[in-house]
Amino acid sequence: MAWQLSALVMAITCLMLCRTSEQSSESELLQQLRKQLEYPRQLEVWNNPSGNPCYTQPTSVVTVTCEGDAVTELKIVGDRITKPPKFSGYPLPNVSLSEAFVIDSFVTTLTRLTTLRVVILVSLGLWGPLPDKIHRLSSLQVLDLSSNFLYGSIPPKLSAMSRLQTLTLDGNYFNGTVPDWFGSLSNLTVLRLQRNRLKGSIPASVGKATMLTELALAGNNISGEVPALGSLVKLEMLDLRDNELDGELPDMPTALVTVLLSKNSFKGEIPEKFGQLKRLQHLDLSFNFLEGSPPEELFDLPNISYLNLAANMLSGSLSSSLTCSSTLGFVDLSTNRITGDLPACLSANLNNRVVKFDGNCFSADPEHQHEANYCQQPHKGGRSGKDVGLVVTIVGIVLIVLVLSLLLMASNKRNCQRVTAEQQLLQKQMQDNSTPGMSSELLESARYISQAVKFGSQIMPTHRVFSLEELKEATKCFERSAFLGEGSIGKLYKGKLENGTVIAIRCLALHHRYSIRNLKLRLDLLAKLRHPNLVCLLGHCTDNAVDESSVKRVFLVYEYVPNGTLSSYLSALLLRKH
Ligand SMILES: *[C@@H]1O[C@H](CO)[C@@H](O)[C@H](O)[C@H]1NC(C)=O
Ligand SMILES: *[C@@H]1O[C@H](CO)[C@@H](O)[C@H](O)[C@H]1NC(C)=O
Ligand SMILES: *[C@@H]1O[C@H](CO)[C@@H](O)[C@H](O)[C@H]1NC(C)=O
Ligand SMILES: *[C@@H]1O[C@H](CO)[C@@H](O)[C@H](O)[C@H]1NC(C)=O
Ligand SMILES: *[C@@H]1O[C@H](CO)[C@@H](O)[C@H](O)[C@H]1NC(C)=O
Repeated sequence: MAWQLSALVMAITCLMLCRTSEQSSESELLQQLRKQLEYPRQLEVWNNPSGNPCYTQPTSVVTVTCEGDAVTELKIVGDRITKPPKFSGYPLPNVSLSEAFVIDSFVTTLTRLTTLRVVILVSLGLWGPLPDKIHRLSSLQVLDLSSNFLYGSIPPKLSAMSRLQTLTLDGNYFNGTVPDWFGSLSNLTVLRLQRNRLKGSIPASVGKATMLTELALAGNNISGEVPALGSLVKLEMLDLRDNELDGELPDMPTALVTVLLSKNSFKGEIPEKFGQLKRLQHLDLSFNFLEGSPPEELFDLPNISYLNLAANMLSGSLSSSLTCSSTLGFVDLSTNRITGDLPACLSANLNNRVVKFDGNCFSADPEHQHEANYCQQPHKGGRSGKDVGLVVTIVGIVLIVLVLSLLLMASNKRNCQRVTAEQQLLQKQMQDNSTPGMSSELLESARYISQAVKFGSQIMPTHRVFSLEELKEATKCFERSAFLGEGSIGKLYKGKLENGTVIAIRCLALHHRYSIRNLKLRLDLLAKLRHPNLVCLLGHCTDNAVDESSVKRVFLVYEYVPNGTLSSYLSALLLRKH
């Protein structure tokens, strides 16, 4: 009996000991992670007297939540926000973690915190391919590894993390295909894979993720058609901007509040059913190849506030009885082929509504409209009609470039060239960054509006077009003393404008021929990516190949900031695609 009792006591002691060692090991594991992260400044709070991170006050950048001593939530937001122009999988001094960092060991340590439900590790410089073993965190509900240097495929075994509700991998270098595990993740509600290098098409299985409320795949190289999304009855936010998607616009699920599809190659008409998306507040279809007349219901949806249809091939006229919702604050119809009168609710300046309609064939404001025949180009609906349209467009661009070149040669040296329609549009796009009409409420809601849009809404000095002569003068004809250096992206010069502003000029020789439109898209993106921490882009200048509809060289003009290496980040964006 006594023997049995002592055995029991020993067993209990052992259990307690084991528990204590486990307890200490949780905080030891955290300290080990801290070491592997190369002691980020943010984790100095873990130096508390108890040495146990569970007892530190949560802040916006560091949170450790424990149940007992089991860590359930780990959030660390670092400050490694610089993105280099080129990242090829090797660590970058002072930008990513060092060469000594091994992602595999790091994730192994992390997965030993088996009770984790929330992991948020943002801007910490993590680099390497994300190991499949991350799936061992089987209780995980939220995984956010955005703004790091992770590349390769998104691990297929993430499909085993059946509890996962939020997966955010924005701003990394993932370069595989869009994952095809939507059928397994039945509780997935938020998926954000923006600003990576993902390829391939969106798998049809996305339709099985019926709990999704947010799907954000913007800023990748995703191609093909968008599969049917009708089954995603909870989807409120769809952001597929800036990809290579084509085909016709699919029918949209009716719960959508925000639909952002700009800068793709969508064709065909805007489906009438878009006019039944009663909850819609924000619709951006700009910079596609959409045709036909826009459904008039779009203007009168009960909560619509932002409607951007610019830079498509929309045609026809809008009925004079068209009504606008009182919530509608911003409408952009510019650079289409719409004819006739502007409906009353778009022409009067009601409710401070901002309406843009340049570059069509409207009867109003003829100075900024095309001749009527521009909008009557033969595209009778048939394929051949489209081809004719395309040829006409190309011929148009060639003519525009010829006119530009002639004017460039003839014009006064220091005058900015704002002559062609395309350039005007570019200019306009640059100035439009205040994105008026986007309700402040919507801007607050980081959940629905990506960073890029937010940055675009910040006030900034006007971007302008410089003439080549002006830049030659500023640099004494790109004299050797003005030469600052040469990076992988192009030569950098320092110069001084006539008004005394010191500038840095990056000269990009374009190996690929950019059409003016294409270039415009890139510059538009650049101008929108403004941020107080980034060097300011003052303007640009293009050197056109005289006989082609393409641009030979682009000069980006920045504020000169000694040691301003961030400018390389900006110019890299220009070359990210193609
Ligand atoms: C993905 O990127 C890494 C690092 O840049 C590279 O080594 C790898 O070949 C790329 N894979 C694909 C499929 O492009
Ligand atoms: C990295 O930062 C340290 C300290 O700020 C500095 O001494 C070092 O020169 C930097 N290295 C590079 C490659 O910029
Ligand atoms: C999905 O979520 C529901 C409700 O939150 C929960 O009851 C269920 O267990 C979850 N499924 C999985 C596989 O975690
Ligand atoms: C419109 O917005 C208001 C306030 O945000 C909301 O209460 C209302 O339900 C919305 N209406 C629709 C049809 O979504
Ligand atoms: C993007 O995808 C298209 C079509 O798949 C391809 O032609 C292009 O080279 C890709 N661009 C990049 C930057 O990978």
